[in-house]
Amino acid sequence: MNAPVTLTDRLGATGTANALELRGVSKIFGALAAMQDITMTVRPGERRAVLGSNGAGKTTLFNCITGDFPPSGGSIRFFGEDITRFPAHERIRRGLRRTYQISLLFAGLSVLDNIYLACRGVSRGRFSFWRPGRDEALMASAENLVRVVHLDDARLTPVAELSYGQQRQLEIAMALSGAPRFILFDEPAAGLSPTERRELIEILTGLPGHMGFIIIEHDMDVALRVAESVTMMHNGRIFKEGKPAEIEDDPEVQALYLGGGHG
Ligand SMILES: Nc1ncnc2c1ncn2[C@@H]1O[C@H](COP(=O)(O)OP(=O)(O)OP(=O)(O)O)[C@@H](O)[C@H]1O
Ligand SMILES: [Mg+2]
Repeated sequence: MNAPVTLTDRLGATGTANALELRGVSKIFGALAAMQDITMTVRPGERRAVLGSNGAGKTTLFNCITGDFPPSGGSIRFFGEDITRFPAHERIRRGLRRTYQISLLFAGLSVLDNIYLACRGVSRGRFSFWRPGRDEALMASAENLVRVVHLDDARLTPVAELSYGQQRQLEIAMALSGAPRFILFDEPAAGLSPTERRELIEILTGLPGHMGFIIIEHDMDVALRVAESVTMMHNGRIFKEGKPAEIEDDPEVQALYLGGGHG
């Protein structure tokens, strides 16, 4: 089988701007500073892991990037454009995605139909008129995404009959359906068996090279295998940044991790 041509073709040029640029981003909930002064740059195509103990501010970081919660301060640029005050749907329209929750899947429909509907939803937003042959093109994209997330054998299986791990793989396909430029994965390996984790690692490392992502992951092993850079958060701040090997060998990081507090 060829490389995922359709997906690659549908992705636009990434240009020279950084995929993400956060400057002094903070998020205050009442008296709690969930995130403070986060400054971070992610290049196009870069794969970054965000590690940190429970409550470190990792999901809050994602919510500020996606626009689910506007930041209390600072600025966020996406491929050069200031999106700090954009509503979530405007960020989605520009190619920013995060993995969907299981509740967004249609339990009675097959894997292929779910992905097809996700592809159609994206396409409808872009084309307001009927185009002959549209369905075949969308079905080809859906079939391609089935392969990208290793669900070939389950393509006609109803979602309700999938294993938990397969459902998480399907969520990844849903996030990929709009030809995203950048994806945020919030603990995609949570609850997976060792075999399912290996599968996930293969899927993530097999994504087209120019498709960058940030992955929040408690499992250091998964994070260090799929990411080329690591940001370690602690108490709402960036605690350490570096290459996976540097982070793994860092005594302070080890103390923090072995000291407990993550799970
Ligand atoms: N909507 C909210 N309202 C109030 N406080 C919140 C809200 N969301 C998060 N927080 C608080 O902000 C802090 C950071 O939470 P966040 O969910 O970002 O942590 P996390 O690093 O994702 O943790 P985990 O590993 O448990 O998922 C926590 O103290 C949390 O209780
Ligand atoms: Mg979280």
